[in-house]
Amino acid sequence: MRRVIHKYVLLASVLVALVHGRRHGWEHRVSVNRVTDAFGLSEGPHWDQRTQKLYFVDITNQYIRRLDPATGEVNSAYIKHGPVGVVVTVDDTPDKLVAGSGRDVILVSWDGDENEANTTIEVLCSVDTDRNQTRINDGKVDSHGRFWLGTMANEVNGQVSPNEGTLYRIDDKLEPKTEVTPVSISNGLAWDKEDNKFYYIDSPTRQVVGYDYDPQAGTISNKKVIFDLNKTELQGVPDGMTIDTDGNLWVALFGGHHVIHVNPKTGKLLRKVKIPAENVTSVTFGGPLLETLYVTTSGYNLTAQQRKTTPYAGAVFALKGLGARGILANSFKMNQ
Ligand SMILES: *[C@@H]1O[C@H](CO)[C@@H](O)[C@H](O)[C@H]1NC(C)=O
Ligand SMILES: *[C@@H]1O[C@H](CO)[C@@H](O)[C@H](O)[C@H]1NC(C)=O
Ligand SMILES: *[C@@H]1O[C@H](CO)[C@@H](O)[C@H](O)[C@H]1NC(C)=O
Ligand SMILES: *[C@@H]1O[C@H](CO)[C@@H](O)[C@H](O)[C@H]1NC(C)=O
Ligand SMILES: *[C@@H]1O[C@H](CO)[C@@H](O)[C@H](O)[C@H]1NC(C)=O
Repeated sequence: MRRVIHKYVLLASVLVALVHGRRHGWEHRVSVNRVTDAFGLSEGPHWDQRTQKLYFVDITNQYIRRLDPATGEVNSAYIKHGPVGVVVTVDDTPDKLVAGSGRDVILVSWDGDENEANTTIEVLCSVDTDRNQTRINDGKVDSHGRFWLGTMANEVNGQVSPNEGTLYRIDDKLEPKTEVTPVSISNGLAWDKEDNKFYYIDSPTRQVVGYDYDPQAGTISNKKVIFDLNKTELQGVPDGMTIDTDGNLWVALFGGHHVIHVNPKTGKLLRKVKIPAENVTSVTFGGPLLETLYVTTSGYNLTAQQRKTTPYAGAVFALKGLGARGILANSFKMNQ
């Protein structure tokens, strides 16, 4: 049965958030609207400009979900193969997606128009082949259509053992190349619009780092710390991230109730926007003009009591009025 949720959109309380941090000496008025039900560990939002739909994953529940912002409808595809850390669209192929599930990169056949309980998948390649206690987490496609994705150790009793992960780059030959190793919880990635900087987050470091980027070779060098949460009063760890056309970063704070806006050139915190969920997982711009910031949150492993006190944990939110625009997400280029 289709999960019709437009009533939630209609009823959604419009929370007007006053943005802390003043950009032009006055405070922007930003609206924060919940646009989906509360799911589990929602993450990895990917805006599909062709269809004007938002894909995201529900990692531990093993779903790829698709929001149609025009109707509020969310359709879901169950991935029997294992936890789904990331999903992206495939170039020129509207009914196929590429996802990270467990330690495998999989091709998913799903047009998104109906719920699917028995989704057809094909394993394209595997990462972390020398170990078996890790899974693919966040990822993103670069300007040349290569899929960058990272891994982390499986959570055991709420703990993630450090330095078990790696950031990989996968091109159309489907041979994973190591970019950064070791990492602990591979998360946010972004390239600037000039395509010569790459930004990256390994969450437990509480840092956002930047590299010089060679778009032809797909290689990174000259790592620099561009933002360090340990030098701020901010709570939580940096998780998913995106970039705007001004070259500034938007970073989700897991455990921090906020999305922050950071200038990577100066290392300055430009502003922060409060989200009605503690564990903010990721962000991406969407909408026809890429002016809406979609924000995913986690409702994973909540007690019944927490469910009551934080009913929105696990939902996706839409932020409008930020005065910023995103950069179009790339699709994976497959050799088909
Ligand atoms: C699921 O799909 C596979 C083919 O992809 C098929 O063999 C199997 O019978 C299906 N299972 C169910 C429960 O429909
Ligand atoms: C996981 O790897 C360890 C060490 O390499 C090995 O002993 C164990 O049998 C593996 N477990 C599975 C389920 O493959
Ligand atoms: C889920 O929560 C329970 C109780 O809060 C905890 O004991 C358990 O370790 C958690 N599971 C994971 C995978 O974090
Ligand atoms: C920041 O602080 C956390 C603990 O609060 C620590 O685990 C982490 O290593 C620190 N980051 C750096 C780069 O030192
Ligand atoms: C946020 O995540 C932490 C760490 O996994 C967990 O202990 C806490 O219960 C979560 N809170 C909410 C409201 O999801």
